[in-house]
Amino acid sequence: MVNDPSSATPYRLRALADKRILARLAVIGAVVLAVVGCFAYVGGWLSPNRLTQARMIDTFQEVNGVHPGFRRNHAKGVCIAGYLESNGQGARLSKAAVFRPGRVPIIGRLSLAGGEPYMADGPAAVRSMALAFRPPDGEEWRTAMIDIPVFLVKDPESFWEQLLASRPDPATGKPDPAKMKDFVARHPETARALEIVKANPFSSGFANSSYNALDAFRFVSASGASTPVRWSMAAVDPFEPETPGQSAAQDKNYLFDAAIARIGQAPVQWRLVVTVGQSSDPTDDATIPWPSTREHIDVGTLTINHIEGEAPGNCRDVNFDPLVLPSGIEPSDDPLLSTRSATYSTSFTRRAGETKEPSAVQTPAGGKGA
Ligand code: HEM
Repeated sequence: MVNDPSSATPYRLRALADKRILARLAVIGAVVLAVVGCFAYVGGWLSPNRLTQARMIDTFQEVNGVHPGFRRNHAKGVCIAGYLESNGQGARLSKAAVFRPGRVPIIGRLSLAGGEPYMADGPAAVRSMALAFRPPDGEEWRTAMIDIPVFLVKDPESFWEQLLASRPDPATGKPDPAKMKDFVARHPETARALEIVKANPFSSGFANSSYNALDAFRFVSASGASTPVRWSMAAVDPFEPETPGQSAAQDKNYLFDAAIARIGQAPVQWRLVVTVGQSSDPTDDATIPWPSTREHIDVGTLTINHIEGEAPGNCRDVNFDPLVLPSGIEPSDDPLLSTRSATYSTSFTRRAGETKEPSAVQTPAGGKGA
């Protein structure tokens, strides 16, 4: 009888005629619709013009092309490793394990801003240092810093607009200077930031560049006190300005090759310097420098003693998300931070699933430097 359709059909019809069952089905339908609606909202299908992380990464790809396996920004880079010797001075403001006196292993990456992994090194490209601090008995801290003193935009929308303004013109294959001029004219904060950047010449290489986190964060002490901070890696190698002769040389990897040679010769060091903000200092606008009179605390020395080409399992496969923070360091209200975290994650997801091409920067011994 189970297979007899004449006995099964009336059973179904009776059930559907039951108002309670119908009400239940309506509730289930409403829940399914609500779930689909949530996915549609989060996925941006209801608001195609919203600036989502996917849209931001799509725009990077429009501007730079798609280079499978590579980061969508800061695509050209090399892996580094070493340690931070913490002197304990940071523990006054933050309970993070990384600031207890002692040695913290790190891995990191030196890179150039831009989404083209094989571009020629040059003075115009912003240099960067990303680090993951891995204290043996504490939580990891990741930070991604660049060598300019302020950021050029204050919010994600302006970042995206600026990216669009740098899109190559199909007629010339180069960005249209008029579009960037127009962007700067509409963003006085960018015009002011550019003046500050221009007033600070670039150094001759990665090793004597200082790197700044620019976004504000908050340090939280063991007693719960919360302090606005920014931090920098201040180069110990003496500053020398970049000369036109350097980029005129035939070596298109001249900056990376010099870093590989320098670290191969002897470890390179930076001081981790924390700038202590006051309540009047803006924490939501990375285009504005804090007064130079603010307290600077030297919390330890970073030593880089190893450099190697990007390869499976090293810095290539790390997402230096600036919101990977240990207890004792918290985000500020800077709107760039959550956008950075979201877009780095989308960039990471895309590149992690792609076939990898060898990186432009390789170290002599098949990937091993010092
Ligand atoms: C809304 C603003 C920003 C956007 C959309 C953005 C986007 C990105 C993306 C997509 C990546 C590649 C991530 C990956 O695949 O792992 C990246 C890397 C990087 N960004 Fe940003 N970025 C922003 C702001 C900043 C700021 C303010 C800084 C520095 C203060 C910075 C420093 C870096 C560095 C150093 C890297 C390279 C990290 C590495 O070596 O893996 N970015 N950025």
